[in-house]
Amino acid sequence: MNISVILAHPYAQSFNAAIAAVVVKTLNEFDHAVRFHDLYREHFDPVIPEDELVGDQSRDPLVRLHQEEIRTADGIVIIHPNWWGQPPAVLKGWVDRVLRENVAYAFPVGDSGGGLPIGLLRAKRALVFNTSNTAAARENDVFGDPLQRLWRDCIFGFCGVTDVDRFMFRIVADSSADERDAWLKETADQTRRSFPAP
Ligand SMILES: Cc1cc2nc3c(=O)[nH]c(=O)nc-3n(C[C@H](O)[C@H](O)[C@H](O)COP(=O)(O)O)c2cc1C
Repeated sequence: MNISVILAHPYAQSFNAAIAAVVVKTLNEFDHAVRFHDLYREHFDPVIPEDELVGDQSRDPLVRLHQEEIRTADGIVIIHPNWWGQPPAVLKGWVDRVLRENVAYAFPVGDSGGGLPIGLLRAKRALVFNTSNTAAARENDVFGDPLQRLWRDCIFGFCGVTDVDRFMFRIVADSSADERDAWLKETADQTRRSFPAP
């Protein structure tokens, strides 16, 4: 299977980076074709230029590479911290520029864009790993867990990815080394379950 793995965290030694390393290693054990992108390290430009917004194609070869990979992915893994209930800006820009109309979704003939989209992504399964410093009860009761709505409904559901599993590791700031080890083991186990050997 072609699996796209997208990491958004500025610090190379972050726990998010450790999660991504475990995901890539686990997928490689099963001989999946892993396309790994560390958006900060590859200097992905999240700002969509005017001509790209109104045109059909990006002039940025990195954006075009991401579009081709995501279009042909059989599975997608996203890894990022909770920043203000949202992904870091670089990943928001990745969504804006990569998951474009006619790449990730389309509208029926005759629909100007106000109707229901048709998801175009081949991948039907996605995994999202998040980290945060907020207790589960507060995240759900006070903030309404915005990352769940965002990934499952607003983004993946829109693009036709129906099977979305999301894992939130918390509270990172208070975590022990044993706890983080257990989270990394859970990451590997879940990656194996979601994308078993072909
Ligand atoms: C700009 C910024 C915004 C943040 N916003 C939130 C937030 O809304 N909720 C939360 O629980 N943690 C928030 N955090 C804390 C991060 O989620 C936390 O540092 C991260 O998940 C820890 O993982 P890491 O060790 O890989 O960085 C924020 C951190 C930063 C830098």
